[in-house]
Order: sequence, then structure tokens, then C-alpha cells
Amino acid sequence: MLLELKEIEAGYGKKSVLFGLSMNVKEGQMMALVGPNGAGKTTTLRVIAGQIHPNRGSVLFRGKDISQMMPHLVAQNGVSLVPQGSRVFTSLTVYENLEMGGFQIKDSNEFRESLEGIYRLFPVLEERKSQWAGTLSGGEQQMLAIGRGLMSRPKLLLLDEPSTGLAPKVLHELMKTIVAVKEKMNTSILIVEQNVNEVLKVADEAYVMKLGRIVCYEQCAETLLYDDKLRKAYLS
Ligand SMILES: Nc1ncnc2c1ncn2[C@@H]1O[C@H](COP(=O)(O)OP(=O)(O)OP(=O)(O)O)[C@@H](O)[C@H]1O
Ligand SMILES: [Mg+2]
Repeated sequence: MLLELKEIEAGYGKKSVLFGLSMNVKEGQMMALVGPNGAGKTTTLRVIAGQIHPNRGSVLFRGKDISQMMPHLVAQNGVSLVPQGSRVFTSLTVYENLEMGGFQIKDSNEFRESLEGIYRLFPVLEERKSQWAGTLSGGEQQMLAIGRGLMSRPKLLLLDEPSTGLAPKVLHELMKTIVAVKEKMNTSILIVEQNVNEVLKVADEAYVMKLGRIVCYEQCAETLLYDDKLRKAYLS
């Protein structure tokens, strides 16, 4: 098991958001996390990334408890979060944005290999490496945000609604690219997505959460694709 969340309780100040949340991600897996607005999906990713420390429960990453670790140390341990509405640095070039994602790489060969891996995955980023990131299209900016998150070669990539603002056609491309990230970069993925249809098509497994709890797992998510009534019950 790569990631194990056990009975997590977390929130903001006095407001509780996660109520005994447990979930697992296996090595090499693309796991989807879906659920209605306000369910606590972003909060869950922030707990994993060390931005919020849970009041109870544990987060085990490769068997080690990281639940009270500072975010930069969680990142050093191999977890990378591409936040919701993630913005690129618009007044930096594409290359400079990627450079920032790999700032902690000391070895220049390693840096170059990381960069080349990302250019192979997203050729458009190489074509536009000297362009201001702010002048990229929405889809290209998303690719850059993901590329930046991948520069540190994480073992686990956390994606919070990467498709926000993308046209359906681009969305499908993006999902395919995310699958390629998993396969070519040997990175496990936990992805939060509003586009349930698209993400369930490509994810290996899925959790559905509502009001801070996991309400269904695996086959249930599969059923969601086909059963309208169930969808309404779980996703709204
Ligand atoms: N910084 C914050 N301070 C206080 N409450 C917050 C904060 N961030 C989120 N919340 C609350 O926590 C709950 C869960 O929010 P969260 O962002 O995790 O939901 P979500 O499932 O990601 O929703 P969405 O699909 O809209 O992104 C919501 O009720 C929200 O208002
Ligand atoms: Mg969210």
C-alpha cells in the first residue's frame, strides 16, 4: 500500500470537515475521488500534503506516519499536490515554471532527466518553453501545472480538479495524458474530479465521498456511471 488514511478527523478551527475518513491508494494506481461540492475532497488532499494536520487518525505514506509533517517534508518524501484552480506563474516562462517545480533537485543531470521526461509527456511545453506562461491556453496551463508538480518525480501525485475550465474535448485529452503520467513516470495518482464520467472511465478505482465521509467504494463507483438515481443520491 502506498497511501493509507485511517480514521481521519480534520477541519478548520472549530469546524469539522472530515469525520473518520479512511482510504487507501496502492502503488501504481490511479484512484479517483468524487463527490458533491463541499464534501471535503480538497480538504482530504490538503491533509495528505501536510497543509492541514488532522486532529485524529493517521496518514501513512509508504508505511510512515506523515500526518503531522510539514508540507515541504511531505513533498520531499514524494508527494506532490497540484491544487484546485492551480495557477501557473504567468510572468515567468514555461521553462521557469518547470524549474520552480524542480527547485529542490540538486543534481543537474537529474534535473535535466526530469525536464526531458516532462517534455516527452507534454511536447507542447517544450515547443513553448520560452513563452510567458500567462499566454498559454487554459489546457496548456493545466499541463504546465501538472508538469510542474511532476518535476520533483513524486511517487504520488495529487490532482485537485485538473479539468476546471477546459472544453470537453481537451478534457478527454487531459485524462489520457494523466493515464500516461501514471504509466510512463511510474507515479501513482489520486485525482479529484467533477467530471465523473470522464474520470471513472480512466481511473483504476474510485471513492465517493459526501459530508466528510466515504460513502462508497469500487463497484459502487462503477454503478454510478450507469445508474442515474444512484448518481443523484451520491453526487448532489
Ligand atoms: N479555509 C477554510 N476555512 C474554513 N472552512 C473551509 C476552508 N476550506 C474549506 N472549508 C469548508 O470545508 C468544507 C469542505 O470543503 P472542501 O473544499 O474540502 O470541499 P470539496 O469537496 O473540495 O468541494 P468542491 O467540490 O466545491 O471543491 C466546506 O464546507 C468548506 O466551506
Ligand atoms: Mg475542492
